[in-house]
Amino acid sequence: MADKCICVKDFEILAAKRLDKNALDYYKSGATDEQTLKENCTAFKSWRFQPQVLRDVLNVNMESSVLGSKIAFPICIAPTAMNKMASHDGEIDSAKAANSLSTGFVLSSWATSSIEEITTNVPDVIRWFQLYVYKDKTVTENLVRRAERNGYRALIVTVDTPLLGKRYQDTRNKFALPSNLTLKNFENETTKEDGFPKGVKSARESGLAEYVASLIDPSLSWEDIDWLKTITDLPIIVKGILTAEMALEAVDHNIAGILVSNHGARQLDGVLPTINALPQVVKAVDGRCEVYLDGGIRNGGDVAKAIALGAKAVFVGRPILWGLACDGKRGAQRVLEILRDEFGVTMKLLGVTSIVELQSVHDLVIHESRILSRL
Ligand SMILES: Cc1cc2nc3c(=O)[nH]c(=O)nc-3n(C[C@H](O)[C@H](O)[C@H](O)COP(=O)(O)O)c2cc1C
Repeated sequence: MADKCICVKDFEILAAKRLDKNALDYYKSGATDEQTLKENCTAFKSWRFQPQVLRDVLNVNMESSVLGSKIAFPICIAPTAMNKMASHDGEIDSAKAANSLSTGFVLSSWATSSIEEITTNVPDVIRWFQLYVYKDKTVTENLVRRAERNGYRALIVTVDTPLLGKRYQDTRNKFALPSNLTLKNFENETTKEDGFPKGVKSARESGLAEYVASLIDPSLSWEDIDWLKTITDLPIIVKGILTAEMALEAVDHNIAGILVSNHGARQLDGVLPTINALPQVVKAVDGRCEVYLDGGIRNGGDVAKAIALGAKAVFVGRPILWGLACDGKRGAQRVLEILRDEFGVTMKLLGVTSIVELQSVHDLVIHESRILSRL
């Protein structure tokens, strides 16, 4: 069946049939009314291409880089928790998929495979570690040290989660990790960071919301980011910035990169879809650090729009989970291949042959309100 999937939507439909309700709802949900969840995808439609023709597009080069790490095309795997609810090997499958296509993979703090397991099983994958800052700073520091020792090339610090956004369906389901799985990064901790409720219905509400409330630091501030910089030489990317003002603060704190993200619309509902937030961040940053985007990428045209508007690379979350649910590593790899190939076709039809060109031709991507206002 997975062999018949020719686009991300096909994978999404098939995955919905394969996953159980606890996992499917956790993967697909957004916060509260899910306004931003829908808009993350639909907002791409209001950005229009103004293609060039009669350009030689025989050979196209999709190569890009993230903080100096070369990637074959600018589509990487975003950190998503608990991949083993989707496939037997979970995050190892995801990392293998990224590695097989020479692109990058981000491991979540809340993965069901550990920092070390990724390194052992997929030693060559370009990898970054997504860090949640725990109230207990020794837990946080321990994660950082393990990422350093295991070849992760940057910390992607998630800054939009001082507490968990309200996700109605997870509350209804009393979302919990199946009893055969654990948050692997905390398996050997003597502390309660592995205290995630296991077995469906063991929690009073969403088990994850309770976990975050008890262990994740709601007082997270720039001071903590500055503290992280004192304890590690790994470059820091902040994940979850959506405004020019916050981007300027990040630049002031000498951050290596900004991931424009609304956490897949799972935190504060009503924020801008990321593609609409991207231009103000790119403008404010003005080349002083790298900028990336995630949220709502579902085809290669979406990728081209984000890159043309200034993102160095994009990250995809749910599409990878759909791929895993349909066919493990092969499914995740197929999803990446589909996005890569669609992106290549889009570049050619836009009349550009490199990422530099895609980003430098004037108004190749323009918001439709600007086109209409010219009439
Ligand atoms: C099921 C799921 C779990 C996620 N877990 C994490 C996480 O552990 N850490 C994090 O920073 N972001 C997490 N995210 C957010 C993603 O990194 C990313 O921002 C988002 O999925 C991008 O949107 P997309 O799913 O539309 O591609 C998660 C998203 C989903 C859908």
